[in-house]
Amino acid sequence: MPDHALEFSARAGSVIPFKTDCLTVPVPGKLPLPTAAAAVDAALGGQISALVTAGDFTGALGAALMLHQPAGLAASRLLLIGTGKEPPMPRDVLNLIAAAARAVLGTPAKSAALLVTDLLGEREPTAFARQAARLFCEAGYKYRPGDDNGKRGKLARLTLVCEERSQVRTLTRGLELGAAIGKGINSARRLGDLPGNVCTPGYLAEQARELGKRHPGVSVRVLDEKQMAKLKMGALLSVTAGTVQPAYLITLEYRGAAAQAPVVLVGKGVTFDSGGISLKPGAKMDEMKYDMCGAASVLGVMEAVAAAALPLHLVCLIPTVENLPSGTATKPGDVVTSMSGKTIEILNTDAEGRLILCDALTYAARYKPAVVIDIATLTGACVVALGKQASGLFSPNDTLAAELLAAGEASGDRAWRLPLWKEYDEQLKSNFADIANIGGPEAGSITAGCFLARFTKDYTWAHLDIAGTAWNSGPKGATGRPIPLLMEYLLGRIDPAGNA
Ligand code: BES
Ligand code: MN
Ligand code: ZN
Repeated sequence: MPDHALEFSARAGSVIPFKTDCLTVPVPGKLPLPTAAAAVDAALGGQISALVTAGDFTGALGAALMLHQPAGLAASRLLLIGTGKEPPMPRDVLNLIAAAARAVLGTPAKSAALLVTDLLGEREPTAFARQAARLFCEAGYKYRPGDDNGKRGKLARLTLVCEERSQVRTLTRGLELGAAIGKGINSARRLGDLPGNVCTPGYLAEQARELGKRHPGVSVRVLDEKQMAKLKMGALLSVTAGTVQPAYLITLEYRGAAAQAPVVLVGKGVTFDSGGISLKPGAKMDEMKYDMCGAASVLGVMEAVAAAALPLHLVCLIPTVENLPSGTATKPGDVVTSMSGKTIEILNTDAEGRLILCDALTYAARYKPAVVIDIATLTGACVVALGKQASGLFSPNDTLAAELLAAGEASGDRAWRLPLWKEYDEQLKSNFADIANIGGPEAGSITAGCFLARFTKDYTWAHLDIAGTAWNSGPKGATGRPIPLLMEYLLGRIDPAGNA
């Protein structure tokens, strides 16, 4: 596979004589300019401060102004990026880097430099560089049919320029990690964007095997329907009853720190969700090819963790099926027995995500996990509640919930917590089984969370509903979320000595 990933590096010293196709300088809308921007301004004979004074450059967050052949600099372009209110808040810095990346990638520049001195301030250079690298990777993503490495723009090299030599090493480590995360994000986006007739459960299994080949530290196992039947995964198998596509349970295990109990990530892998017999309306049904974005995100995390050789023990579980109606499909009113032994009355075949997840979550217990997090495009109700700003976060464990919320803030990939009170759980009562698979029209995301909670009593668990965050509808495209959040969380579990 040809790899034309972006190359990243860091250097210390003046940007004035630095040869690059595009020098990017963060600039506020007010004078005096911060130190590093002021030095560039001086080399330009005061052109930047003149633009600010005249009001031609407002410095609004993410505003971009491109100058060609700036006299006094070795760079062939100078890109001013507005920093908004001074000093920019952590979230502003992420937005500003994303805006810079989009602007740079919109030019023919093959190389670019980002002047980071004024942005770094008290910030931790590794974390800063990590986010910068992954944001530049993200901005370079383009879906191209038949091209595994579709790319936007011509950029091949990005250099972060700082002031102090001592920062180069930490910036470089952050860039390496960020590049790995960016790669994971873009491969997840590609899987999401692929049409449902290409990205089938079998295709996801194949991708997992390929990942295992690329990273010998990752072992991959794929259970077929026969093996799942032996394990009595009746809930999962009920979802695949209507399609000719074989279903699988994919397991990937990476032992970068084998002595530890693993983090287990479970990703919903419905490669197309028609609703089944409870057929969805036609409008936007095509977007249900994205119903495997949870699966794609855990594959992306595994890719990043293995590429960066992080000292973690990580297991990813992917239950993957296609949900279609047919003469053999499961019907509303059918009762199935899950792997846990609990019986489930299927009142709506469109509430299928929880059915495949509950068996995978029961299976997860055999890893004696330190923590289990499932990631799923689970409910339309979550899109209604939180839109695309935040993923829904559900957990009975306050510590884990706080850690995940913090990881979301730090990476700009936010989540918002919703409750799992027993009063909601009561909506899942069934006359004919231990539990119904829907809880009525009220609080749909929460009752879905309560359903999963019933299968996760043996370990520390959280659920992320990414129905609103995993893809954009206009223009359509997968986002790779919540990989930034998950990576931040996992990195937070590694102690500074790097051994756990
Ligand atoms: N995959 C959908 C959830 C979804 C819908 C995500 C729209 C993003 C946009 C899920 O399988 C589903 O169909 N959920 C139902 C649950 C209902 C039947 C209780 C829903 O949200 O309507
Ligand atoms: Mn559904
Ligand atoms: Zn679904």
